[in-house]
Amino acid sequence: MTPFLKWAGGKRWLVSQHDAWLRNNAKRYIEPFLGSGAVFFHMQPTSAILSDINAELVATYQALRDTPLKVRRHLLAHHRMHSIDHYYHVRQQAPRTAATQAARFIYLNRTCFNGLYRVNLKGVFNVPKGTKEKVILPSDDFENVSALLQATALVSCDFADTIRQAKSGDFLYIDPPYTVRHNNNNFLKYNEHIFSWADQKRLAVCLAEAARRGVSILISNADHPCIHELYGASYWQRMTVDRFSRLASSAKHRRGTTEAVISNYLKENGEQEDPRY
Ligand SMILES: C[S@@+](CC[C@H](N)C(=O)[O-])C[C@H]1O[C@@H](n2cnc3c(N)ncnc32)[C@H](O)[C@@H]1O
Repeated sequence: MTPFLKWAGGKRWLVSQHDAWLRNNAKRYIEPFLGSGAVFFHMQPTSAILSDINAELVATYQALRDTPLKVRRHLLAHHRMHSIDHYYHVRQQAPRTAATQAARFIYLNRTCFNGLYRVNLKGVFNVPKGTKEKVILPSDDFENVSALLQATALVSCDFADTIRQAKSGDFLYIDPPYTVRHNNNNFLKYNEHIFSWADQKRLAVCLAEAARRGVSILISNADHPCIHELYGASYWQRMTVDRFSRLASSAKHRRGTTEAVISNYLKENGEQEDPRY
């Protein structure tokens, strides 16, 4: 299933190339940096916890789960009225119901510049209109999205609260903003919630604890020495992946196109250590 949002750092490329790395038979799927949920929609787990610090984003998923047809009806209205004027009118609106808020969120996501999410100091979305004009997409299937989300806990919170809930046999997929040491300005790219180097360190501590509890963990992160160092313990398998091809050898590193994939259940060749899961 294709995600209904376009999101900075979305992982459609990962699932299309590395499906074999995912833990398919885990007890529960847990994703604390949800964004557009590319891995969740690809795996379609029967039991899941999904969370993100972005409250508007999580409320959109909740509205789609609970009232998919209402959200679709309001999105169709935006589709019919779509124009530059309508975009800027909707951008400064604050609709009251969950369905109209979700339709506004999806409408702005699909028609704003590059699908970015950025708010001003008052928390109001301020991305200019982009060049994409399609408000309704051929892949839209809100009823199916709703069905998939029925067995899912959807929460707006910091990653630490969600990771704490992961138990032995669960699968945690971790995809934080790619902040590296000496560079806390990732918000220039995402400009949503600043994810600092201190957050990266806090995340690594939470994940070390989860690994000790027997949770299967897969992490995508920046391919940078400071990230490899953060996950330097022997139970972490660190790999460098070329987004456009396959496992990248170190000689082949091309800045900006490689990412780090780190796991506590994959072997060096990318095979899973315990195929029971
Ligand atoms: C790289 S994106 C995730 C992309 C997602 N994997 C996808 O396929 O679209 C990172 C997400 O982390 C969220 N985030 C940032 N700081 C956070 C925090 N402290 N706790 C939880 N989520 C956070 C952002 O709102 C953003 O949606």
